[in-house]
Amino acid sequence: MQAAVMRANNVPLEIEEVAIDDPGPGEVLVKTAASGVCHSDLTVIEGGLPVPPPSILGHEPAGVVEAVGAGVTDFSPGDHVIGCLSSWCGVCKFCTGGRPYLCLTQFAGRPEGAAPRLTAANGDPILQFGNLSSFAEKMLSPERSLVKIRDDMPLDRACLIGCGVTTGLGAALNTVNIPAGASVAIIGCGGVGLAALQGARIVGAGQIIAVDAQAWKFNLAQKLGATHCVDASDVDPVAAVQEITGGGADFVFECIGLVSTVQQAVAMTGRGGTSVLVGVVPITQKVEISAADLTLQEKKITGSFMGSNRFRFDMPKYIDFYLDGRLHLDEMISSRLPLAEVNDAFDRMRRGEAARQVIVFE
Ligand SMILES: NC(=O)c1ccc[n+]([C@@H]2O[C@H](COP(=O)([O-])OP(=O)(O)OC[C@H]3O[C@@H](n4cnc5c(N)ncnc54)[C@H](O)[C@@H]3O)[C@@H](O)[C@H]2O)c1
Ligand SMILES: [Zn+2]
Ligand SMILES: [Zn+2]
Repeated sequence: MQAAVMRANNVPLEIEEVAIDDPGPGEVLVKTAASGVCHSDLTVIEGGLPVPPPSILGHEPAGVVEAVGAGVTDFSPGDHVIGCLSSWCGVCKFCTGGRPYLCLTQFAGRPEGAAPRLTAANGDPILQFGNLSSFAEKMLSPERSLVKIRDDMPLDRACLIGCGVTTGLGAALNTVNIPAGASVAIIGCGGVGLAALQGARIVGAGQIIAVDAQAWKFNLAQKLGATHCVDASDVDPVAAVQEITGGGADFVFECIGLVSTVQQAVAMTGRGGTSVLVGVVPITQKVEISAADLTLQEKKITGSFMGSNRFRFDMPKYIDFYLDGRLHLDEMISSRLPLAEVNDAFDRMRRGEAARQVIVFE
């Protein structure tokens, strides 16, 4: 099969012929139909998350089951599925405690000594990213990395739910509890931020303030539910949000992953409010914040990982939201492209020229 292989950090992905193994026990072979391009893939390419090359990125997929391994009972060939990084074991304390997205073994891969799932033309193993690696014509995944979805859901939109939508929407619906009428600011209107924004709209937030440095995003943000837009390239976003909300927002979602915007998020959170850190700051960087600001104004900060998902429960619900007209996905897709153009997608992402880009397979 064709796949885009990361051979080294900070260089373009290479389109190569790669071998994919047959499904082992508990595994499912999926023909990839579409894969969204998430900023976390770019963070990996730039060395900000530890996924060593050679590896195949892509973790926002939808596709069709081609074959299943021994013992697989949840899927059959022909099923439409979404893949998710949040593979769960079902027995660790996080799984049994109701937070499977924190599962201790979610990135474990095949057992020690087993053949690799992915192999280069020269026979060398290629690392699979998060049990998915969707920048490839096929994926070989544990059944607990997949969820079956309705056949009437278009796969080129379903894929967005695999990461960005679940991350943003889940941050608003699962990680925190936003009362109707609360003020919400979203910093960063990429795929993740626009999904958090829609989550705020769906739960009935009051003011919904979209902050971005690319003013062209605001038309889209307003269509998706923003009541106010703040151009961070033009004004001080902290002062602007404080002004709009009368002292700071009740909830602020940082959906970029920069040190400076995390600091802005905490600063524009109002008294008693909550800053939700969704963006992934490169692991080599630290963020300085005022502890007194947190104490004296009783602000809370929480991380939000993969939208605090229970994806087999959440994703079919999000698809119903889309098909009922409550979750807008068509508008979030700024372009569809073939796998061969994946590097162009990352260039557009670096320049801030894209909303969500989707790789579609024949
Ligand atoms: N927490 C999780 O589980 C999780 C899951 C997926 C993605 N992420 C992270 O979420 C973040 C967003 O991902 P995405 O795919 O939506 O990214 P994206 O690149 O599509 O969007 C980022 C947005 O931020 C804007 N921006 C950049 N710098 C800015 C600045 N200084 N001020 C204001 N706006 C600015 C860009 O214009 C763009 O609209 C990334 O850090 C990604 O790694 C986290
Ligand atoms: Zn992602
Ligand atoms: Zn577990």
